[in-house]
Amino acid sequence: MVRQCKAFILFLVRIGLLLGLANPLVTSASCPSACRCDGTFIYCNDRGLTSIPTGLPLDATVLFLQNNRIKSSGIPAELRRLSNVEKIYLYCNNLDEFPTNLPLGLKELHLQENNIRMITHASLAQIPYIEELHLDDNSVSAVSIEEGAFRDSNHLRLLFLSRNHLSTIPSGLPMSIEELRFDDNRISSISEQSLQDLINLKRLILDGNLLNNRGIGEMAFINLINLTELSLVRNSLTSPPANLPGTSLEKLQLQDNHINRVPPGAFAFLRQLYRLDLSGNNLSSLPQGVFEDLDNLTQLLLRSNPWQCTCRMKWVRDWLRSLPSKVNVRGFMCQGPDKVKGMAIKDLTTDMFDCTDSELLPDV
Ligand SMILES: *[C@@H]1O[C@H](CO)[C@@H](O)[C@H](O)[C@H]1NC(C)=O
Ligand SMILES: *[C@@H]1O[C@H](CO)[C@@H](O)[C@H](O)[C@H]1NC(C)=O
Ligand SMILES: *[C@@H]1O[C@H](CO)[C@@H](O)[C@H](O)[C@H]1NC(C)=O
Repeated sequence: MVRQCKAFILFLVRIGLLLGLANPLVTSASCPSACRCDGTFIYCNDRGLTSIPTGLPLDATVLFLQNNRIKSSGIPAELRRLSNVEKIYLYCNNLDEFPTNLPLGLKELHLQENNIRMITHASLAQIPYIEELHLDDNSVSAVSIEEGAFRDSNHLRLLFLSRNHLSTIPSGLPMSIEELRFDDNRISSISEQSLQDLINLKRLILDGNLLNNRGIGEMAFINLINLTELSLVRNSLTSPPANLPGTSLEKLQLQDNHINRVPPGAFAFLRQLYRLDLSGNNLSSLPQGVFEDLDNLTQLLLRSNPWQCTCRMKWVRDWLRSLPSKVNVRGFMCQGPDKVKGMAIKDLTTDMFDCTDSELLPDV
Protein backbone atom coordinates (compact mmCIF):
# COMPACT_ATOMS: atom_id res chain seq x y z
CA MET A 1 0.00 0.00 0.00
CA VAL A 2 3.05 2.27 0.08
CA ARG A 3 2.55 5.22 -2.23
CA GLN A 4 5.00 5.26 -5.09
CA CYS A 5 7.47 8.10 -4.61
CA LYS A 6 7.51 10.06 -7.82
CA ALA A 7 11.02 11.48 -7.53
CA PHE A 8 12.51 10.10 -10.69
CA ILE A 9 9.89 11.15 -13.25
CA LEU A 10 9.73 14.66 -11.85
CA PHE A 11 13.50 14.74 -11.86
CA LEU A 12 13.48 14.13 -15.61
CA VAL A 13 10.84 16.81 -16.16
CA ARG A 14 12.93 19.18 -14.10
CA ILE A 15 16.05 18.53 -16.18
CA GLY A 16 14.03 19.29 -19.31
CA LEU A 17 12.93 22.59 -17.82
CA LEU A 18 16.47 23.48 -16.80
CA LEU A 19 17.84 22.76 -20.26
CA GLY A 20 15.07 24.57 -22.10
CA LEU A 21 13.40 27.27 -20.15
CA ALA A 22 15.48 28.20 -17.12
CA ASN A 23 15.47 31.87 -16.39
CA PRO A 24 18.62 32.90 -14.50
CA LEU A 25 16.92 36.02 -13.09
CA VAL A 26 14.54 33.88 -11.04
CA THR A 27 17.37 32.47 -8.95
CA SER A 28 18.45 34.81 -6.19
CA ALA A 29 22.12 35.09 -5.28
CA SER A 30 21.82 33.28 -1.96
CA CYS A 31 19.76 30.41 -3.37
CA PRO A 32 21.59 27.15 -4.20
CA SER A 33 21.47 26.47 -7.93
CA ALA A 34 19.63 23.20 -7.36
CA CYS A 35 16.76 24.99 -5.63
CA ARG A 36 14.23 27.73 -6.15
CA CYS A 37 13.80 30.27 -3.39
CA ASP A 38 10.62 32.23 -2.95
CA GLY A 39 11.08 34.57 -0.03
CA THR A 40 11.96 32.34 2.89
CA PHE A 41 10.40 29.23 1.28
CA ILE A 42 13.10 27.06 -0.27
CA TYR A 43 12.05 24.53 -2.94
CA CYS A 44 14.63 21.76 -3.50
CA ASN A 45 12.04 19.00 -3.98
CA ASP A 46 11.72 16.51 -6.87
CA ARG A 47 15.28 16.90 -8.13
CA GLY A 48 16.94 13.53 -7.59
CA LEU A 49 19.23 15.05 -4.94
CA THR A 50 21.21 12.64 -2.76
CA SER A 51 22.12 15.31 -0.23
CA ILE A 52 20.69 18.58 1.02
CA PRO A 53 22.34 21.47 -0.89
CA THR A 54 24.69 23.72 1.06
CA GLY A 55 24.44 27.50 0.94
CA LEU A 56 20.75 27.66 1.85
CA PRO A 57 19.65 31.21 2.72
CA LEU A 58 20.04 31.94 6.41
CA ASP A 59 16.57 33.43 6.70
CA ALA A 60 14.85 30.29 5.34
CA THR A 61 11.71 29.26 7.21
CA VAL A 62 10.40 26.28 5.21
CA LEU A 63 12.52 23.71 3.39
CA PHE A 64 10.90 21.54 0.69
CA LEU A 65 13.21 18.57 0.17
CA GLN A 66 10.68 15.82 -0.54
CA ASN A 67 10.85 13.34 -3.42
CA ASN A 68 14.60 13.16 -3.70
CA ARG A 69 17.08 10.42 -2.89
CA ILE A 70 18.61 12.13 0.12
CA LYS A 71 20.57 9.75 2.34
CA SER A 72 21.22 10.07 6.05
CA SER A 73 24.82 10.99 5.28
CA GLY A 74 23.61 13.80 3.00
CA ILE A 75 22.62 16.22 5.73
CA PRO A 76 25.20 19.00 6.09
CA ALA A 77 26.20 20.33 9.52
CA GLU A 78 25.35 23.86 8.45
CA LEU A 79 21.64 22.96 8.35
CA ARG A 80 21.73 23.41 12.10
CA ARG A 81 22.57 27.12 11.63
CA LEU A 82 19.27 27.92 9.91
CA SER A 83 17.68 29.21 13.07
CA ASN A 84 14.45 30.44 11.44
CA VAL A 85 13.47 27.12 9.91
CA GLU A 86 10.17 25.86 11.33
CA LYS A 87 9.15 23.23 8.77
CA ILE A 88 11.11 20.65 6.84
CA TYR A 89 9.60 18.33 4.23
CA LEU A 90 11.79 15.28 3.74
CA TYR A 91 9.22 12.66 2.79
CA CYS A 92 10.02 10.18 0.03
CA ASN A 93 13.77 10.06 0.40
CA ASN A 94 16.36 7.41 1.25
CA LEU A 95 16.86 8.18 4.93
CA ASP A 96 17.58 5.11 7.02
CA GLU A 97 18.23 7.09 10.19
CA PHE A 98 16.48 9.96 11.87
CA PRO A 99 18.13 13.11 10.42
CA THR A 100 20.89 14.87 12.33
CA ASN A 101 21.90 18.57 12.25
CA LEU A 102 18.29 19.73 12.42
CA PRO A 103 17.61 23.40 13.20
CA LEU A 104 16.91 23.93 16.88
CA GLY A 105 13.63 25.79 16.36
CA LEU A 106 12.02 23.17 14.11
CA LYS A 107 8.30 22.71 14.75
CA GLU A 108 7.16 20.41 11.92
CA LEU A 109 9.13 17.56 10.41
CA HIS A 110 7.81 15.39 7.57
CA LEU A 111 9.73 12.14 7.24
CA GLN A 112 7.10 9.87 5.68
CA GLU A 113 8.18 7.15 3.23
CA ASN A 114 11.78 6.72 4.23
CA ASN A 115 13.28 3.70 5.91
CA ILE A 116 13.83 5.10 9.40
CA ARG A 117 13.97 2.48 12.14
CA MET A 118 15.33 4.07 15.31
CA ILE A 119 13.95 6.94 17.37
CA THR A 120 16.46 7.91 20.06
CA HIS A 121 16.39 10.53 22.76
CA ALA A 122 19.37 12.26 21.14
CA SER A 123 17.57 12.60 17.81
CA LEU A 124 14.57 14.28 19.44
CA ALA A 125 16.56 16.34 21.95
CA GLN A 126 18.08 18.32 19.05
CA ILE A 127 14.58 19.64 18.21
CA PRO A 128 13.02 20.40 21.62
CA TYR A 129 10.28 22.61 20.15
CA ILE A 130 8.99 20.01 17.71
CA GLU A 131 5.18 19.98 17.53
CA GLU A 132 4.46 17.68 14.58
CA LEU A 133 6.37 14.57 13.70
CA HIS A 134 5.28 12.66 10.59
CA LEU A 135 6.85 9.22 10.37
CA ASP A 136 4.25 7.24 8.43
CA ASP A 137 5.54 4.48 6.13
CA ASN A 138 8.87 3.87 7.85
CA SER A 139 10.24 0.86 9.73
CA VAL A 140 9.83 1.92 13.34
CA SER A 141 9.12 -0.90 15.80
CA ALA A 142 8.44 -0.80 19.53
CA VAL A 143 11.96 -1.97 20.39
CA SER A 144 13.59 0.55 18.05
CA ILE A 145 12.20 3.45 20.09
CA GLU A 146 14.68 4.17 22.84
CA GLU A 147 13.34 4.14 26.41
CA GLY A 148 12.56 7.75 27.30
CA ALA A 149 13.05 8.95 23.72
CA PHE A 150 10.26 11.52 24.06
CA ARG A 151 11.07 12.75 27.57
CA ASP A 152 12.17 16.23 26.43
CA SER A 153 9.68 16.65 23.58
CA ASN A 154 7.35 18.75 25.64
CA HIS A 155 5.77 20.54 22.71
CA LEU A 156 4.93 17.48 20.64
CA ARG A 157 1.25 17.59 19.70
CA LEU A 158 1.11 15.21 16.72
CA LEU A 159 2.83 11.88 16.27
CA PHE A 160 2.01 9.96 13.10
CA LEU A 161 3.41 6.45 12.81
CA SER A 162 0.93 4.83 10.42
CA ARG A 163 2.22 1.78 8.52
CA ASN A 164 5.27 1.00 10.62
CA HIS A 165 6.08 -2.14 12.62
CA LEU A 166 4.77 -1.22 16.07
CA SER A 167 3.55 -4.09 18.26
CA THR A 168 2.57 -1.87 21.21
CA ILE A 169 1.92 1.82 21.84
CA PRO A 170 5.28 3.50 22.55
CA SER A 171 5.69 4.25 26.24
CA GLY A 172 6.67 7.61 27.72
CA LEU A 173 4.80 9.80 25.25
CA PRO A 174 4.68 13.44 26.41
CA MET A 175 1.60 14.88 28.04
CA SER A 176 1.41 17.53 25.29
CA ILE A 177 0.27 14.95 22.71
CA GLU A 178 -3.06 15.74 21.06
CA GLU A 179 -3.14 13.32 18.12
CA LEU A 180 -1.71 9.84 17.67
CA ARG A 181 -1.99 7.87 14.45
CA PHE A 182 -0.82 4.28 14.67
CA ASP A 183 -3.02 2.68 12.01
CA ASP A 184 -1.84 -0.36 10.06
CA ASN A 185 0.84 -1.53 12.43
CA ARG A 186 0.84 -4.84 14.31
CA ILE A 187 -0.30 -3.52 17.67
CA SER A 188 -1.74 -6.34 19.77
CA SER A 189 -1.63 -4.76 23.22
CA ILE A 190 -2.28 -1.44 24.93
CA SER A 191 -1.06 -1.40 28.50
CA GLU A 192 -2.82 0.61 31.19
CA GLN A 193 0.29 2.79 31.59
CA SER A 194 0.88 3.64 27.95
CA LEU A 195 -1.91 6.22 27.67
CA GLN A 196 -2.62 7.14 31.26
CA ASP A 197 -0.85 10.55 31.29
CA LEU A 198 -2.16 11.72 27.95
CA ILE A 199 -4.87 14.00 29.26
CA ASN A 200 -4.59 16.28 26.21
CA LEU A 201 -5.03 13.52 23.66
CA LYS A 202 -7.92 14.32 21.32
CA ARG A 203 -7.61 11.80 18.53
CA LEU A 204 -6.36 8.22 18.71
CA ILE A 205 -6.30 6.22 15.47
CA LEU A 206 -5.57 2.51 15.79
CA ASP A 207 -7.23 1.09 12.67
CA GLY A 208 -5.85 -2.04 11.06
CA ASN A 209 -4.03 -3.54 14.04
CA LEU A 210 -4.24 -6.86 15.88
CA LEU A 211 -6.14 -5.73 18.96
CA ASN A 212 -8.56 -8.00 20.76
CA ASN A 213 -10.27 -7.24 24.06
CA ARG A 214 -7.76 -9.14 26.17
CA GLY A 215 -4.92 -7.06 24.72
CA ILE A 216 -6.37 -3.77 25.94
CA GLY A 217 -5.78 -2.88 29.61
CA GLU A 218 -9.06 -2.65 31.52
CA MET A 219 -8.48 1.04 32.34
CA ALA A 220 -6.31 1.93 29.34
CA PHE A 221 -8.54 4.76 28.07
CA ILE A 222 -10.12 6.00 31.30
CA ASN A 223 -7.87 9.06 31.84
CA LEU A 224 -8.27 10.47 28.36
CA ILE A 225 -10.53 13.35 29.35
CA ASN A 226 -9.97 15.27 26.12
CA LEU A 227 -10.38 12.32 23.77
CA THR A 228 -12.91 13.25 21.08
CA GLU A 229 -12.21 10.51 18.53
CA LEU A 230 -11.27 6.88 19.05
CA SER A 231 -10.91 4.74 15.96
CA LEU A 232 -10.41 0.99 16.20
CA VAL A 233 -11.58 -0.06 12.74
CA ARG A 234 -10.26 -3.40 11.39
CA ASN A 235 -9.13 -5.04 14.59
CA SER A 236 -10.25 -8.24 16.33
CA LEU A 237 -12.46 -6.89 19.09
CA THR A 238 -15.34 -9.10 20.19
CA SER A 239 -16.98 -6.35 22.27
CA PRO A 240 -16.49 -2.58 22.58
CA PRO A 241 -13.50 -1.66 24.77
CA ALA A 242 -14.38 -1.22 28.43
CA ASN A 243 -14.30 2.02 30.44
CA LEU A 244 -14.35 4.56 27.65
CA PRO A 245 -13.91 8.16 28.79
CA GLY A 246 -17.19 10.06 28.50
CA THR A 247 -16.07 13.65 29.07
CA SER A 248 -15.24 14.48 25.45
CA LEU A 249 -15.71 11.42 23.26
CA GLU A 250 -17.65 12.42 20.14
CA LYS A 251 -16.74 9.76 17.58
CA LEU A 252 -16.29 6.07 18.21
CA GLN A 253 -15.35 3.96 15.20
CA LEU A 254 -15.61 0.22 15.79
CA GLN A 255 -16.47 -1.05 12.33
CA ASP A 256 -15.02 -4.23 10.82
CA ASN A 257 -14.18 -6.07 14.02
CA HIS A 258 -15.72 -9.33 15.29
CA ILE A 259 -17.99 -7.73 17.87
CA ASN A 260 -20.73 -10.17 18.78
CA ARG A 261 -21.62 -8.84 22.21
CA VAL A 262 -22.30 -5.38 23.58
CA PRO A 263 -22.58 -5.32 27.39
CA PRO A 264 -25.49 -3.21 28.74
CA GLY A 265 -23.17 -0.45 30.05
CA ALA A 266 -20.79 -0.35 27.09
CA PHE A 267 -21.74 3.19 26.09
CA ALA A 268 -22.71 4.49 29.52
CA PHE A 269 -21.83 8.13 30.21
CA LEU A 270 -20.83 8.89 26.61
CA ARG A 271 -22.96 12.01 26.59
CA GLN A 272 -20.93 13.88 23.97
CA LEU A 273 -20.89 11.00 21.50
CA TYR A 274 -22.54 11.92 18.22
CA ARG A 275 -21.19 9.22 15.90
CA LEU A 276 -21.07 5.53 16.70
CA ASP A 277 -20.15 3.07 13.97
CA LEU A 278 -20.58 -0.64 14.61
CA SER A 279 -20.91 -1.67 10.96
CA GLY A 280 -19.32 -4.86 9.71
CA ASN A 281 -19.45 -6.75 12.99
CA ASN A 282 -21.12 -9.93 14.15
CA LEU A 283 -24.00 -8.52 16.18
CA SER A 284 -27.35 -10.28 16.26
CA SER A 285 -28.90 -8.37 19.16
CA LEU A 286 -28.36 -5.51 21.58
CA PRO A 287 -29.34 -5.21 25.24
CA GLN A 288 -32.28 -2.95 25.97
CA GLY A 289 -31.33 0.65 26.74
CA VAL A 290 -27.73 0.35 25.58
CA PHE A 291 -27.89 3.75 23.85
CA GLU A 292 -29.71 5.44 26.73
CA ASP A 293 -26.90 7.82 27.74
CA LEU A 294 -26.09 8.97 24.22
CA ASP A 295 -27.77 12.36 24.49
CA ASN A 296 -25.90 13.79 21.50
CA LEU A 297 -26.18 10.86 19.12
CA THR A 298 -26.87 11.88 15.52
CA GLN A 299 -25.20 9.10 13.51
CA LEU A 300 -25.57 5.44 14.42
CA LEU A 301 -24.23 3.07 11.79
CA LEU A 302 -24.97 -0.64 12.08
CA ARG A 303 -24.82 -2.06 8.56
CA SER A 304 -23.55 -5.58 7.83
CA ASN A 305 -24.44 -7.26 11.11
CA PRO A 306 -26.52 -10.46 11.33
CA TRP A 307 -29.41 -8.82 13.20
CA GLN A 308 -31.97 -11.33 14.49
CA CYS A 309 -35.28 -9.56 14.86
CA THR A 310 -36.70 -11.71 17.64
CA CYS A 311 -38.63 -10.58 20.67
CA ARG A 312 -35.55 -9.38 22.49
CA MET A 313 -35.06 -6.78 19.73
CA LYS A 314 -38.55 -5.35 19.92
CA TRP A 315 -37.26 -2.56 22.12
CA VAL A 316 -35.07 -1.41 19.22
CA ARG A 317 -38.11 -0.82 17.03
CA ASP A 318 -39.83 1.16 19.77
CA TRP A 319 -36.66 3.16 20.41
CA LEU A 320 -36.19 3.92 16.71
CA ARG A 321 -39.75 5.14 16.43
CA SER A 322 -39.27 7.44 19.42
CA LEU A 323 -36.10 9.11 18.13
CA PRO A 324 -36.04 12.74 17.07
CA SER A 325 -35.54 13.17 13.32
CA LYS A 326 -32.00 14.55 13.66
CA VAL A 327 -30.84 11.06 14.65
CA ASN A 328 -29.75 9.16 11.59
CA VAL A 329 -29.71 5.39 12.13
CA ARG A 330 -28.53 3.14 9.30
CA GLY A 331 -28.40 -0.59 8.93
CA PHE A 332 -30.95 -2.13 11.33
CA MET A 333 -32.03 -4.69 8.70
CA CYS A 334 -33.23 -8.08 9.88
CA GLN A 335 -31.21 -11.04 8.63
CA GLY A 336 -33.42 -13.45 10.51
CA PRO A 337 -35.74 -15.10 11.39
CA ASP A 338 -36.68 -16.03 7.81
CA LYS A 339 -40.12 -14.46 7.78
CA VAL A 340 -38.71 -10.96 8.43
CA LYS A 341 -35.43 -11.35 6.59
CA GLY A 342 -34.57 -8.25 4.58
CA MET A 343 -37.04 -6.03 6.46
CA ALA A 344 -36.07 -2.90 8.35
CA ILE A 345 -36.57 -3.50 12.05
CA LYS A 346 -38.35 -0.16 12.32
CA ASP A 347 -41.10 -1.41 9.97
CA LEU A 348 -41.92 -4.64 11.82
CA THR A 349 -45.34 -4.93 13.40
CA THR A 350 -45.57 -6.06 17.00
CA ASP A 351 -46.82 -9.57 16.13
CA MET A 352 -43.83 -10.16 13.85
CA PHE A 353 -41.56 -10.22 16.92
CA ASP A 354 -43.26 -13.42 18.24
CA CYS A 355 -43.06 -12.22 21.78
CA THR A 356 -45.58 -14.61 23.33
CA ASP A 357 -43.22 -17.47 24.18
CA SER A 358 -39.90 -15.74 24.48
CA GLU A 359 -40.97 -12.50 26.18
CA LEU A 360 -39.37 -13.39 29.46
CA LEU A 361 -36.01 -14.52 28.12
CA PRO A 362 -33.18 -12.51 29.61
CA ASP A 363 -31.07 -10.31 27.34
CA VAL A 364 -27.65 -11.53 26.26
C1 LIG B 1 -8.09 19.13 28.06
O1 LIG B 1 -9.15 19.32 28.97
C2 LIG B 1 -8.93 20.26 29.99
C3 LIG B 1 -10.09 20.22 30.93
O2 LIG B 1 -11.30 20.25 30.23
C4 LIG B 1 -8.68 21.62 29.36
O3 LIG B 1 -8.39 22.57 30.37
C5 LIG B 1 -7.52 21.54 28.39
O4 LIG B 1 -7.33 22.76 27.73
C6 LIG B 1 -7.76 20.45 27.36
N1 LIG B 1 -6.61 20.29 26.51
C7 LIG B 1 -6.62 20.60 25.23
C8 LIG B 1 -5.35 20.38 24.50
O5 LIG B 1 -7.61 21.02 24.67
C1 LIG C 1 -19.93 -14.60 15.09
O1 LIG C 1 -20.33 -14.94 16.41
C2 LIG C 1 -20.62 -16.30 16.59
C3 LIG C 1 -21.08 -16.49 18.01
O2 LIG C 1 -22.07 -15.54 18.35
C4 LIG C 1 -19.42 -17.15 16.28
O3 LIG C 1 -19.73 -18.49 16.37
C5 LIG C 1 -18.90 -16.82 14.88
O4 LIG C 1 -17.68 -17.51 14.65
C6 LIG C 1 -18.67 -15.33 14.73
N1 LIG C 1 -18.28 -15.04 13.37
C7 LIG C 1 -17.30 -14.18 13.09
C8 LIG C 1 -17.04 -13.96 11.62
O5 LIG C 1 -16.64 -13.61 13.93
C1 LIG D 1 -24.03 17.69 23.42
O1 LIG D 1 -25.25 18.07 23.99
C2 LIG D 1 -25.18 19.17 24.85
C3 LIG D 1 -26.56 19.40 25.42
O2 LIG D 1 -27.32 18.25 25.44
C4 LIG D 1 -24.68 20.38 24.10
O3 LIG D 1 -24.51 21.45 24.98
C5 LIG D 1 -23.35 20.05 23.45
O4 LIG D 1 -22.91 21.12 22.66
C6 LIG D 1 -23.48 18.82 22.60
N1 LIG D 1 -22.21 18.48 22.07
C7 LIG D 1 -22.03 18.20 20.79
C8 LIG D 1 -20.67 17.80 20.39
O5 LIG D 1 -22.94 18.26 19.97
